[in-house]
Amino acid sequence: MSVAADPVKLMKQEVGKAAAEIVKSGSIVGLGTGSTTAYTIQYLGDRLKSGELKDIVGVPTSFQSEVLAKQYGIPLTTLDAIDHIDIAIDGADEVDPHKNLIKGGGAAHTREKVVDYLAAQFIVVVDSSKLVDRLGSSFAVPVEVIPMALTPVSNAIKELGGIPELRMGLKKAGPVITDQGNMVIDVRFDNISDPVNLEKTLNNIPGVLENGIFVNCADVVLIGEVIDGKPVVRRM
Ligand code: 5RP
Repeated sequence: MSVAADPVKLMKQEVGKAAAEIVKSGSIVGLGTGSTTAYTIQYLGDRLKSGELKDIVGVPTSFQSEVLAKQYGIPLTTLDAIDHIDIAIDGADEVDPHKNLIKGGGAAHTREKVVDYLAAQFIVVVDSSKLVDRLGSSFAVPVEVIPMALTPVSNAIKELGGIPELRMGLKKAGPVITDQGNMVIDVRFDNISDPVNLEKTLNNIPGVLENGIFVNCADVVLIGEVIDGKPVVRRM
């Protein structure tokens, strides 16, 4: 594929593959959600098939990653059956210089947060467009809400200075429904100066299940870039 045709896809492929190469035989692997980790799951499957990688089991973070893992032949397990996760690989919608993240572009941030925080090593895979100086610069904060609490949660978010918008489905009438059967409110904030506190404050609103701010969680951020027409991966 030519870089000019689809540089973002190429960056995602390269960084997804680079993360899959880090996984060692015998590992329990958290499998993230999104178009970048889809490449990681595919390459993990390729490594298993070739025999280069052995005895890994995956913990999916969504229905999407479960389906992909099955498609590429990665054995799966659940959190009830294991006592640790060695490594999790997941995408992000924004990454700040302190490796704080906004996630949830695929409405999967609740399960992603459980798995990514449990992992001994959490590797984030992004293309360079996801890097920001401050969280909230380009992406709204996804907040998963139980359906009966949509109105009071939206009101509480407005009191905090956020602008809430219910996420609507594409090719589906009505709102996006998460893997847990809830809805997602995307919240725009003018300025997220304290992501640590905002994460806690949002989660304290009754009816909120989880929000997409991930702080003090990522160990390594792998960034896919195109430099002089060639895809490269650098590490933050
Ligand atoms: C899903 C996520 C994704 O990891 C995030 O949206 C990045 O996705 P992509 O790799 O497709 O850009 O948080 O809930």
